[in-house]
Amino acid sequence: MKTHLADEPSVVDRILKHIDAKSTDLSDGVWLEPVEHYLSRERFSAEINGAFRRTPTPFCPSAALPDVGCYVARDAARTPIIAIRGSDGVARAFRNACRHRGVQLVDGAGCKKALTCRYHGWTYGLDGHLRGVPDEYGFPGLDKAFHGLTPVTCFEQGGLVFVSQDNAAATPADVSDIPALFGADWKLYTTVEQEVAANWKIVAEGFLEGYHIRSTHQDTFYPVQYDNINVIESFGRNSRITFPYRRIEKLRKVPPAERKTAGMLTHVYHLFPNIMISTFSTNMLMTVLEPLAADRTRLITYTLSNQIEAAEGRAAVAQGRDFVTAGAAEDREMACAAQRGLASRANAHFTFGLFEGAIKHFHRNLSAVIDKT
Ligand code: FES
Ligand SMILES: [Fe+2]
Repeated sequence: MKTHLADEPSVVDRILKHIDAKSTDLSDGVWLEPVEHYLSRERFSAEINGAFRRTPTPFCPSAALPDVGCYVARDAARTPIIAIRGSDGVARAFRNACRHRGVQLVDGAGCKKALTCRYHGWTYGLDGHLRGVPDEYGFPGLDKAFHGLTPVTCFEQGGLVFVSQDNAAATPADVSDIPALFGADWKLYTTVEQEVAANWKIVAEGFLEGYHIRSTHQDTFYPVQYDNINVIESFGRNSRITFPYRRIEKLRKVPPAERKTAGMLTHVYHLFPNIMISTFSTNMLMTVLEPLAADRTRLITYTLSNQIEAAEGRAAVAQGRDFVTAGAAEDREMACAAQRGLASRANAHFTFGLFEGAIKHFHRNLSAVIDKT
């Protein structure tokens, strides 16, 4: 499957036409999403089992595993997973549980020569094989070859480490419609974790439309961005929403083929089901929406840049991140408020209008996946 995303000059052209016409991309109809889908524990389990665990999903950027022995360990779809780069340079992923009595081998991120369990000291190689058992004579008959870490399907593509937990047959071909977003020069700058008291879908929805820019982001994004002018595209189950900055007007004087879009627009890529990648002029953010419960979500935000080597690059990256941080806090506030609105029982469903087509695409695909399982 090929990527069907428009090239940058076409996106700029569409945006300039929208600015002139005071219009935006519209979806093919209103979508009603039952409020029960945000509250129900059964629905939550179906999402985790049917969508999250069966979809090859970006686990972390490749840049988070820069060298041999570097790892990222976190829960993905409520399952402890570790991704680690082997001495052959290959990124692998395992269920993060010791094969003795299940303790996690590491938490967070770092680099190790081997993985040693803190409980009784069983040691695993970077490729997951069980290397050593202290006082092994206490385990007569233990076949070490069958007690390596339990692998999950893992591959790298376009600067992302993909993990597929319950669909072992997943291959890079399954994500070939996702464009290569991070080249080899993109480095990890920071990783930040936050918890939000809202259903993961409510958090996702905040990324997927530009209809709230003026109301929600009055003093942050709105002074530099347009309200409700977006280009909305889909590719497979994924979407891309383009948010233009007011300075994009400058490109009117530039011949279309020479138009550079850095700093003129932000793309938000929604990689189904729970990954958002936002592009800014000096950095890119990969945000994982990790569902903790039906009413709680952990956000893990990886900030990457290809300009952190130089001091002036680092300053620009820090400035860009501060800009995003202020707006993101407003989005989290709205997500929590919408979550509280569920308890009001005022709405039987949420109504997504014609400006909210990427959300419609999201719910349509999520429902299709769940109904299939
Ligand atoms: S639980 Fe890991 S060594 Fe015992
Ligand atoms: Fe927002």
